[in-house]
Amino acid sequence: MRELGVRADVRPSDTPLSQLQGARGIIISGGPASVYDAASPTIDPALLAQPIPVLGICYGQQIFAHLLGGKVKPGTKGEYGPARLHLTQPGKLFRTWQDNSQVWMSHRDTVEQPPPGFTVNAITATCAIAAMEDTARQLYGVQFHPEVVHTTHGRSLLSNFVFDICGCVEDWDPRHRIPLIEEQIRATVGDRNVFFFVSGGVDSTVAFSLCLRALGPGRVRGVYVDTGLMREGETEFVRSMFGTDVAIEDAAPQFLKPLATVVEPEEKRRIIGEQFVLVQERIIEARHLLDGQWILGQGTIYPDTIESGGTKNAAVIKTHHNRVDGIQKLLASNRLVEPLSSFYKDEVRQIGRELNLPPELLDRHPFPGPGLAIRLLCSPANGTLEQLAGGWLVPILSVGVQGDSRTYAPILALENPVAEASDLVNSISGINRVIAQVAVNTPLPCLSVHRSAIVPERIARLRHADSIVRRLTAEYAFDAETWQFPVVLVPLGTAHAPDSVVLRPIQSVDGMTAEAVAIPPALLAALAAELLAIPGIAGVFRDLTDKPPATIEWE
Ligand code: XMP
Repeated sequence: MRELGVRADVRPSDTPLSQLQGARGIIISGGPASVYDAASPTIDPALLAQPIPVLGICYGQQIFAHLLGGKVKPGTKGEYGPARLHLTQPGKLFRTWQDNSQVWMSHRDTVEQPPPGFTVNAITATCAIAAMEDTARQLYGVQFHPEVVHTTHGRSLLSNFVFDICGCVEDWDPRHRIPLIEEQIRATVGDRNVFFFVSGGVDSTVAFSLCLRALGPGRVRGVYVDTGLMREGETEFVRSMFGTDVAIEDAAPQFLKPLATVVEPEEKRRIIGEQFVLVQERIIEARHLLDGQWILGQGTIYPDTIESGGTKNAAVIKTHHNRVDGIQKLLASNRLVEPLSSFYKDEVRQIGRELNLPPELLDRHPFPGPGLAIRLLCSPANGTLEQLAGGWLVPILSVGVQGDSRTYAPILALENPVAEASDLVNSISGINRVIAQVAVNTPLPCLSVHRSAIVPERIARLRHADSIVRRLTAEYAFDAETWQFPVVLVPLGTAHAPDSVVLRPIQSVDGMTAEAVAIPPALLAALAAELLAIPGIAGVFRDLTDKPPATIEWE
């Protein structure tokens, strides 16, 4: 809605109608629950008996079908990925649509029978009620996800809802919010000062700059913590960005020691978050900043809060490092300022441009706070590959997101990809990711999984691989073609070369969903040649999976 220029806020699903006064439209979002689950989220039924238009998306459509006397059919396996939408009786929502456009599905249950008074607008090959409406009651529902880019005309559906059906006008531009953000910073901070841990990324830099503008020089300080998990050249970049406003703290041993035996992604995140808090406490103490005169500033943005379960009903897909316990405590004791916590990435970039921050910073690919740790996969045991569906099942677990819930599952590796990755993930239960071989120094079936951890030698190997990929993608002007290009190290190899590199270039709008991107053949050949020459590397693969069903990071 906000990208369409219309002000919108997110509220818990059980918000009573009385607290939504002034709204011109209500959207009930999707979610991982089934209406038949005992504790599934519900809505105030009064929302469905008032004149404001309501659009239900996925679970949102199911919940109102369920409440109004329709029938929801529980699904077992679900449907994740693209589908073609056949318009049977298109209403206002589909005014601008062509028949058989692509839509994006991510669901288990479906509506089987609409409530009385509803017309079915559209179907797909596998979904009999892909859209329905009751124009008299102003209730509209879709099973697919118009909010993701893979629904070709999703944006125009939302635009039809918000402008034609709700009668909204454009009233939102993040750049105009800067004075308000500065006012909020001054109100939160009061006469205290703000201390930041900057990462060199867009979010923390924009948040830092906003605080500097709001509070003036001398009241905002930063430290860049070198966790030992950063990319090559990062410290130099930070030095060039901030000059003397930011100090550099080498804390590598403190992070790497407790991580040395850890495999499980959530455990990695917990340790990194905890060490961040410990480093922070140590620095604050060393600088005598514990006198109540300083509070912590962070560049947390909106999706970070949503995916960490920060809204009551969003499933915890991962714990964001900005939302671990120690920081929750600071938040609760009013010692935290997060000027960007209600903005999306694109909005943060727009704000950054308005603040005249350099394009080399604003156009940077996002890089996750926990750094290389979540791109360095480990295994608690040795393992061998098993033949499966024309490929090989690799017993290395990675994180995924299916039907809005987290999965942690093994990978399918293909020597020659024939089928679409999403079809494979949908048809083979228990996997969430598909990779294809680019080059190997030993045939894929002879590679095996090695017991492995986050050790300096493997971090150096990944950092080296990542720097090669960054250099070559810049040379081939491929970085502008992708939103992000994670490079992942997996413990798949031989006794002498125990690891492989997985290339994961993706296209995305905001990181919430993503599409795997093909690498041009010339670049792929150059990458394979240089990466295979790294000591310890047995193979180079590319990740073919979209998000969902996989996530962007492997963890
Ligand atoms: P996933 O893996 O969930 O990633 O598809 C979505 C986007 O979020 C980034 N990411 C993070 N960014 N701190 C960050 O600042 C984090 O802990 C974190 N985890 C994931 C990821 O790189 C991608 O752009």
